[in-house]
Order: sequence, then C-alpha cells, then structure tokens
Amino acid sequence: MSGRVCASDFEEEAKKILPKSIYDYYRSGADGQNTLAHNLSAFHRWYLIPRVLRNVSSVDLSVSVLGQRLSMPLCVAATAMQRMAHPAGETATAKACKAAGTGMMLSSWATSTIEEVMSAMMAVQGGEGVLWMQLYIYKDRELTLSLVRRAEKAGYKAIFVTVDTPFLGKRLDDVRNRFKMPPHLSMSNFSTASLAFSEDSYGNDSGLAVYVANAIDPTISWEDITWLKKHTHLPVIVKGILNGEDAVCALNYGADAILVSNHGARQLDGVPATLDVLEEVVQAVQGQCDVYMDGGVRRGTDVLKALALGAKAVFMGRPVLWALACQGEEGVTELLELLKEELRLAMALSGCRSLSEVNRSLVRKVDFPSRM
Ligand code: FNR
Ligand code: LAC
Repeated sequence: MSGRVCASDFEEEAKKILPKSIYDYYRSGADGQNTLAHNLSAFHRWYLIPRVLRNVSSVDLSVSVLGQRLSMPLCVAATAMQRMAHPAGETATAKACKAAGTGMMLSSWATSTIEEVMSAMMAVQGGEGVLWMQLYIYKDRELTLSLVRRAEKAGYKAIFVTVDTPFLGKRLDDVRNRFKMPPHLSMSNFSTASLAFSEDSYGNDSGLAVYVANAIDPTISWEDITWLKKHTHLPVIVKGILNGEDAVCALNYGADAILVSNHGARQLDGVPATLDVLEEVVQAVQGQCDVYMDGGVRRGTDVLKALALGAKAVFMGRPVLWALACQGEEGVTELLELLKEELRLAMALSGCRSLSEVNRSLVRKVDFPSRM
C-alpha cells in the first residue's frame, strides 16, 4: 500500500523527491499565478445536484474520444520533459495509460522519441491505449511537418496543435533558477543541441523561454490551422482556446475539435479558469465538434463537473508528473485508477449510470456573497 488516497498526496511526496528547479518548473504558473489558483478554485464554485433512487449498482465510464473507445473520459495532457521526473519518463506514462485504458498526449518536447513512446505503449498487453501528438509550430516548417509525419507513421491518432505559446509565459521561479534541462537529457525528437534544448547556457533567463523565442514561430495565425490540415490526414485539435469567438474561428479554419486550455495557467496570467469559459465555448460551437478541457482537474468530481458543463473528456497535466516522480509507471497507473474510481463513485452518488446521463442539470453555480 502506497498510503496515497488522492491526487494531491502525490504532489506532497514528489516535492520531497524532486530537485527544486525541476519541481518549480513543473508546478509553476505564470507571473502572479492568479490563474493557477483559479483553475483549482473554479471547481469549488459549482455544486453537484444529485438524483437519487436510480439503481447505480453498475456505472459505465467509457467514452469515445476522437474515434477511439476509452475506459474513462480522463486522459493525460502533454507535459514536456518527463524524464526529469523519472528515468523512464514518457514511456512509463504511455504504459500506464494503456493499462488504464486511456489516452496520452505526447509533448513535442518529450525526452523520449515519438517512436519509442509508441513502442512502449504497444508492448503492454491488454488495455486499449491511444497516443496523440502535441505539436508546436516551429519557425522551420519542414521540421514541424517532419514531427507530424513521424507521428502519423508511428500510429498516433490525432494532432493537438498548441496555439497559446507564440512566446513562453514568464514563470518567475524558472527565471530565478535559470531553468534548463539536466545535462544527461534532451528533447529527444530533435538532433541538434539548439533544437534539443541542450545548449550549455541560456544566459540569465529561463532557458526554456530563450529556446521558445529562438525556435517557435510567433507569426502563426489561423491560416496555419488550414496549412496543418492540408498536410495531415489525422484529426487536428486546437489546444488553447478560451472564448467563443476563437472557438468559432477554429471551426471555420478546419479544426476537428477544440481543447479549452490555459496551458495549466503557465502562459497569460489573469485569464479565467478553464472551467469558467467551458460553457461559452460549448455553446459557441453548437455541437459541430467535440470540446475537451484541461486545467486544475484533480478529482473525480472535477471531471464530472466539466462533463456536465459540456466537455466530452478532460485532460490532466501536473498530477501525472508527480505520480511519475513518486513511482514511475506504477505511480501513474495508481493515479489513473484512483481517479477512475473517484469518478465512478461520483457518478453513482449523482445518480448517473453512464456518461449519457451527465448533463447541465447536474451542476449549479454557487451564489457566493460579494466578498468572494
Ligand atoms: C505543460 N503543458 C504543455 N502543453 C503543451 O501543449 N505542450 C507541452 O509541452 C506542455 N508542457 C507542459 C509542461 C508542464 C510541466 C506543465 C505543468 C504543463 C500544458 C498541459 O498540456 C496542460 O494544458 C496543463 O498542464 C493542464 O493543467 P493541469 O492539469 O496541470 O492543472
Ligand atoms: C511549458 C511548455 C513546455 O508549459 O509548454 O513549460
């Protein structure tokens, strides 16, 4: 028995294990970290309104995400550089996702290659794992497309293109720590030191902020969604939408789905919690595409609230890093099973036997007094 009973137990343990600059990089939000706090507290501003006497002896959590059947509507978000948390890094996460029957979004900035993460996942017997590729658009468009082609060839099922990072948000601890990757690691999908984030020095700034300014294309615009669609047969999901207008643009420029995300509060501080803009986005797309959400999901009841507000499924970032740091693949499996059981219980106690019974009437906004 690990003694961990909820997602936050993993963070407490991981904090004791990880070197400070790595813990800080994983944990941080941008600037004053107001949005970081909002992403969590937003879930407290919604009540669940349960129904009773509905025979909840059996609850079905399964869902279809981008054409794949998953065991639950909770998937793993792209987080960069997972070998800083555990030597097996992304390969451990992929195995745990397959064992739990859910999907993993692999970061462009993984410390394992696109191909080796797929092989690791395939090697797990049973389960129904799915891999999706998260894409940053580089100034070098051929390089960008080479990532897409590698993901297609390896059997990834979709491309999540991140649109909230023309520059890296300012994370104060990363600047203070002059954050860079430990020297034995690199961004494995790239072959030169400058692209693999393994230069000796990045001056007095966050090394990653310098890397992004050098390599990532700040000129990207909506036409680049069309460009990307033209170059891949995979579904393209726009990651980083925070309002209805941009959701409609995403649809108009050919996106297959939308991921409501503020990048775990790491880009623009001061934006709303993702839970608080989810409904606006869902209403704007009028059922024309699926809407997913990430940001602050830490409990089964959080998943349920996001689904009631219209998300088809949600993604989780940091807790997976903490679980990796605690116990590698086993830690991530434990975390995913724990959340799955929390969601099962939350659904049963709400009177929902399947996700088709989760709807808007399950949640009500808390009417706080004005001092909130
Ligand atoms: C991220 N995120 C991210 N997003 C992305 O598109 N590409 C990436 O490489 C990364 N890397 C990354 C590293 C770390 C350490 C964190 C915490 C986050 C954002 C991520 O996909 C997701 O949007 C958030 O993590 C969701 O919020 P929570 O679950 O961490 O609160
Ligand atoms: C971050 C990048 C990797 O949030 O997306 O640190």
